[in-house]
Amino acid sequence: MIRTLLSQIHGKRRQTTFVAALGLLAAAALVPSAAANPASKSWLNAKESPSVRASQLLRELTLEEKIGQMDQIVVGNLRAPTAPANGICSGGNNDPLQTTCLQTVLANNKTGSILSGGSDNPVDNTGAGWANQYNTIQHYAIDNSRLHIPIIYGVDAVHGFGHPTEATLFPQQIGMGATWDTSLAEAAGVATKQQALATGGNWVFAPVQDISRDNRWGRYYETWAEAPALAGALGAANIEGLQGSGGYSKPEVAATVKHFAGYSQSLNGHDRAEAQLPIRYLQDTILPAYQQAIDAGASTVMVDSGSVNGIPADASHYLLTTQLRDRMHFQGVVISDYNDVPALASAYHIAPDLAGAIAAAVNAGVDMSMEVNDSAGWDAALLKDVQTGAVKKWRIDQAVRRILTLKFRLGLFDHPFVDPSKANAAVTANRDLARKAADESVTLLRNQNSTLPLSPNVGKLVVTGPSADSVTNQLGGWSVSWQGVFGGGQVCCAGPANQIPSATTVLAGIKNAVSPSTQVVYTQDQASAVSETSSADAAVVVVGENAYAEALGDDPSPQLKASQKALISALEATGKPVIVVVVAGRPLGLGPAETASALLMAYQPGTEGGSGVADVLFGSVNPSGKLPVTWPSDAPVQQSGFNSTGPSSLGDEPKFFDQLPGTNGGQGSGYNPLYPFGFGLSYTTFGTSGLTASTKHNTVTTTFTVTNTGSKSGADIVPVYVHQAISDPLVPNQRLAGFTRVQLNAGESKVVTVSFPTSVLALTPGDIDGTAAPRVPSGAYQARVGTLTADVTINH
Ligand code: BGC
Repeated sequence: MIRTLLSQIHGKRRQTTFVAALGLLAAAALVPSAAANPASKSWLNAKESPSVRASQLLRELTLEEKIGQMDQIVVGNLRAPTAPANGICSGGNNDPLQTTCLQTVLANNKTGSILSGGSDNPVDNTGAGWANQYNTIQHYAIDNSRLHIPIIYGVDAVHGFGHPTEATLFPQQIGMGATWDTSLAEAAGVATKQQALATGGNWVFAPVQDISRDNRWGRYYETWAEAPALAGALGAANIEGLQGSGGYSKPEVAATVKHFAGYSQSLNGHDRAEAQLPIRYLQDTILPAYQQAIDAGASTVMVDSGSVNGIPADASHYLLTTQLRDRMHFQGVVISDYNDVPALASAYHIAPDLAGAIAAAVNAGVDMSMEVNDSAGWDAALLKDVQTGAVKKWRIDQAVRRILTLKFRLGLFDHPFVDPSKANAAVTANRDLARKAADESVTLLRNQNSTLPLSPNVGKLVVTGPSADSVTNQLGGWSVSWQGVFGGGQVCCAGPANQIPSATTVLAGIKNAVSPSTQVVYTQDQASAVSETSSADAAVVVVGENAYAEALGDDPSPQLKASQKALISALEATGKPVIVVVVAGRPLGLGPAETASALLMAYQPGTEGGSGVADVLFGSVNPSGKLPVTWPSDAPVQQSGFNSTGPSSLGDEPKFFDQLPGTNGGQGSGYNPLYPFGFGLSYTTFGTSGLTASTKHNTVTTTFTVTNTGSKSGADIVPVYVHQAISDPLVPNQRLAGFTRVQLNAGESKVVTVSFPTSVLALTPGDIDGTAAPRVPSGAYQARVGTLTADVTINH
């Protein structure tokens, strides 16, 4: 009956395989409430363009309906243990959807979008469970809104669709950054799209385009790289994969560029804290990575929760309109982050009440508020704003037109439902791709006396360390729940809802890789790890960080724990080869690991991470990962004539913080890293020769030859830097402009071409009053590849 009604309303069946999860709802509630019959339902004509359809529908909406479209509410408001009499709900993951809750949010308050936050999972946390929950909500929204408008459903999927327990997960973005592989970032985007599409998550809150500059920050691992050109290229490729070949005009899911702008730049390394961004740093270093992602067709932008130069980003007309719309030409939907619009009143105190907060945000450029919990409050406050003139009707229409256009572009009016029978397979697919990503991300930082690769026939191997067999640690945050599996803990309660996700740990990867005759001794006991190592061929010690997310991951001095350092020291004292594997979301102070026989950075490598580590340990994969960030040193800052040893009160403590946050430029920066940006070893050696550079049509083209000069096949990543021959102390000595990844057999050479638009060299003029846009200075430049240089002149 429901299908028949929908068919009549929309003139056609939208999904032949639809199976609704109606068990949770009273059947009566699914009958369309106030079936409208507007004279013209022209917006239902799928042959019309999305913008025409949006304009047509916009004309039919009441002011209240428009206001509802601008609101996003968390799924918990649709769930409750039992139906509450007042219809106000705040349910948890074990609570079912309730008709009265759906009625309050979707019918009465006309909310246009629902989200699942980091820990919001359905009772049945499988692909099918997600699809069923989505279909039920979508069904209710369509049936019970006067004009049958579908909701758009937002989910976090920063390294794959992280929610369902069995989901395939990729390395966190910082690990993907180490691959420098745009085609891989795109393929991971495609895989994530398939997961999200199958489960109803038609709006994915990814990728993160904030650049990595300060590893004290708890979200460092969610970024791609410290270099804007690398972060921009990977983000653009990822968005192309996520949205599909239809791109901006016909995305399969909507991607989100977040968090605009400068979210990673807090002054003190704490999440959501104040950033101070001089105009030149903002325009020349911070905005380009967002720009590349916007140029790749991203449908939406999420606003930074912090403040920039004293103004909360959500209330910054300069950021959200002057920069984002006028300069960067973004045309899609701008959404605030979690609860951030109310926070303008409650936390920032820039407005006296919710209505004032909403007016500030909407007038600055926020189209939709991730309001989270108060759909009635949103409606009343924004209505009041329009009535008082605090928010003009044209601005409401502008925002709603963008939102409706996106819904039409996504095909939500034409195909609103998903097929739960296909969802589990989509969520668990692409394990091989996740392994390839882990393989390419693992970064070999040290390999004394060719300790690695180990022979798979090694006699006895000790495996130890807190992350050797920890699914939680290798997945990191935003995996099953916000803080990671089991809330970041190692174990949880029994029962199907608390199962450990299927993943290959380092221990499992090693066991899979070695020969049947190899003795693998796994222990978490330090004394026995040490005594077993005395009679072993080598020890693999897997250390690093536990899972975390957002502010809970802020760390003023990120380094290996004292217990981990002690374990490494004790193993090293045996004189046997000690291979340290770091599973962490950021560079850490290493202590004794700096002098280990071999050192691998695995980042937080995802469900197939253990296989990726083992592939490199035993040489079935030649490591190719290169640091996408600088690895600061524990050593004091070195400057000529001045040697900082830090305050004496710190005694022998490592002075890791001497180099935080990284500036990566300038004479006094103390850039003295343990491992520089772009560093990573291989089991072979490479050489470059014959660099040429030329410019034509605002594009710089470099060519050079890359040769595998060693005895094993492998991939080389070659960064191309540009040095600008002008005297400006604020311009870094060299900037990354492009890069390539070349696969070569032993002895093989290839001529490669790396091109980049001259716009990557744009700089804000030095003598500005804060309003000038960046431009490319004409003059002499130098392309740099390794020690090779080639001069090039740019005339703009
Ligand atoms: C985060 C966003 C995320 C949102 C929804 C916020 O706390 O800052 O990155 O997309 O939650 O879960």
